[in-house]
Amino acid sequence: MMRFVYVSTCVPGLELEDVYSIMRTANPTNRKHAISGMLCWSGEFFLQCLEGDRASLSRLFSRICGDPRHTDVELIVAAPTNLRWFSEWGMGYSRLLASHQLDLPNTDASGFNPYLLQASELEATFEQLSKVAQRLSLD
Ligand SMILES: Cc1cc2nc3c(=O)[nH]c(=O)nc-3n(C[C@H](O)[C@H](O)[C@H](O)COP(=O)(O)O)c2cc1C
Repeated sequence: MMRFVYVSTCVPGLELEDVYSIMRTANPTNRKHAISGMLCWSGEFFLQCLEGDRASLSRLFSRICGDPRHTDVELIVAAPTNLRWFSEWGMGYSRLLASHQLDLPNTDASGFNPYLLQASELEATFEQLSKVAQRLSLD
């Protein structure tokens, strides 16, 4: 099993409804391929963790890289792992708001900037993000 974590920049004008649309696709597709993870959206950036077998993750990641809803996809980590951080979800979702006041190491003067994240900071970061994770009603 492997874990991929990447960061990307939303295209201008991307709204909550677009993120809902991504989640509507992601949940059933990821469950079908035994992929777990979390998508975090800050309004400006995406940060996503994907866990699953190498072939499934590679296929999904190629599709995600070509998705016109975001740009500047940067892989932070692609590493083998025996342990899922997100075993309970097809795809969790966390919306990061300024009011959340998370104690994240990768925050600069302008707020949350996941491009500054180091691989070693990911576990603690996703632990914090899980606390504000929402289950979306996707109907
Ligand atoms: C930030 C972001 C994260 C995404 N995450 C997933 C995901 O976890 N699972 C998924 O199936 N699609 C995800 N998508 C959507 C895929 O890019 C793609 O639209 C979807 O898999 C359908 O692909 P297809 O039209 O080639 O069938 C994501 C898109 C974006 C922009």
